Amino acid sequence: MSKNFDVVVIGGGPGGYVAAIRAAQLGFSAACIDEWKNAKNGPAPGGTCTNVGCIPSKALLQSSEHYEHAGHAFADHGIEVKGLNLNLGQMLSRKDAIVKQNNDGILYLFKKNKVTFFHGRGSFVKAGGDGYEIKVAGATEETITGKHIILATGSNPRALADAPFDEKLILSNTGALAIDAVPKKLGVIGAGVIGLEMGSVWRRVGADVTVLEALPGFLSAVDEQIAKEAFKLFTKQGLSINLGVKIGAITPGKKDVTVEYTDDKGNAQKAVFDKLIVSIGRVPNTIGLNGEGVGLKLDERGFIAVDGDCKTNLPNVWAVGDVVRGPMLAHKAEEEGVAVAERIAGQHGHVNFNTIPWVIYTSPEIAWVGKTEQQLKAEGIAYKAGTFPFMANGRARALGDTSGMVKFLADAKSDEILGVHIVGPMASELISEAVVAMEFRASSEDIARICHAHPSLSEATKEAALAVDKRSLNF
Ligand code: FAD
Ligand code: NAI
Repeated sequence: MSKNFDVVVIGGGPGGYVAAIRAAQLGFSAACIDEWKNAKNGPAPGGTCTNVGCIPSKALLQSSEHYEHAGHAFADHGIEVKGLNLNLGQMLSRKDAIVKQNNDGILYLFKKNKVTFFHGRGSFVKAGGDGYEIKVAGATEETITGKHIILATGSNPRALADAPFDEKLILSNTGALAIDAVPKKLGVIGAGVIGLEMGSVWRRVGADVTVLEALPGFLSAVDEQIAKEAFKLFTKQGLSINLGVKIGAITPGKKDVTVEYTDDKGNAQKAVFDKLIVSIGRVPNTIGLNGEGVGLKLDERGFIAVDGDCKTNLPNVWAVGDVVRGPMLAHKAEEEGVAVAERIAGQHGHVNFNTIPWVIYTSPEIAWVGKTEQQLKAEGIAYKAGTFPFMANGRARALGDTSGMVKFLADAKSDEILGVHIVGPMASELISEAVVAMEFRASSEDIARICHAHPSLSEATKEAALAVDKRSLNF
């Protein structure tokens, strides 16, 4: 096997494995190095996303939603469930099996595309000759060379200063996805994406969930109207969300953990939880890469410094995904991975940061693309808004899920769509239409004129577009 490659990718998450496949498709000899181990110490490519992120969280969200529906929603459909039982072990095994299918799928894709996979930690040895020497430290140690290096080493959960993760009582996303008995009382620090998704999973299967958030506002990156609606819905479901708190001492006991905090009125509070999830953001991961050995520049927050094309300060060294600036999302990482492989091939790889969708997979889901109303106000951009509630959508009624709305924001003069915001059923799927529309710089009238299938949730999108011009038909 040749140990000299055109492209060596370090990190096999969505940024890295996709970059390696695209490089191979473009005719390069490509290698991908990833160190993630499964329970049997075997390779588990796919990174955070596949192993302890997107995939397992969505598996548990689906299972727990089925459980909640069986317990609460089915009766309304005339389906009576007696003796409903939670088999948490099976729920977790199903999740693990889905993760393994994805790991195996990536190994298959590497074979299919002739990407050479190395299981181990990759680190820079030196620059020299026609590229870089990279050491792979795994079951066996070897050195390979790459003319181009793509760094896709991802991110790690951020811990609170005095409360390191032990994954038994104080849990990161890793522990939060593997709790083996439903905790009676679950604490969650941080009402961000992970806090809300994992808080929802464990609430649905019976935990009493308290979320403690430092900021005074809820989901500050989300359009305010949508965030307000979501807050109302989640609170009604039973999530206790406390905003504007200041976390104090965290003291793990034998079987529980005590959290002291100051509430938004300045009162000292103390809560005891069976488990505590800390989800206060993630930090870029450059551990063990020996970037310093070759002079790789990091920015002031520890991300690998890159330009708009994902080029680092070192010639022919690129970086993509969570380890560089921008949203920490799997699809953003993938887009950058593909674009870099294409740039190496002399093509014009393209990532449009204005049309990267966001989805929070709660129930109902929250999804958006483009600017929020508060951003448009802050930037002094004149806009028109149109909203349509799922309450007035026939398909949503048939589904039994009428919560939420679709909201369009369009330029006041040109009518170009500037942002679309959804809280409601299947928002994750509905947002794609808005992404396509914005990528083609469509106007709200374009969406309003397009024929949408009836009855479908997407009619709410069309109606919200009609509402921009104050002419929705069904509300
Ligand atoms: P990663 O996926 O972190 O992959 C990096 C890989 O590099 C890892 O396998 C790591 O072991 C390996 N590595 C690191 N250093 C080395 C080295 N020196 N040598 C060899 N290997 C190395 N995003 C979404 O878009 N949708 C979601 O629904 C979603 N859900 C999430 C849920 C949770 C609980 C979490 C934690 C995250 C979620 N994310 C989601 C975010 C998403 O997981 C990340 O944005 C994405 O995984 C980033 O991809 P990446 O390739 O940059 O890095
Ligand atoms: P986050 O950035 O979404 O939320 C962190 C929250 O913690 C914020 O609201 C912040 O104000 C709060 N916080 C920070 N410090 C705090 C403190 N000391 N005390 C109390 N609250 C504090 O980060 P999260 O949830 O950890 O997720 C990390 C990233 O992973 C996300 O930003 C996202 O990029 C990605 N992710 C994406 C998902 C998706 O796309 N559906 C799902 C899960 C994660």
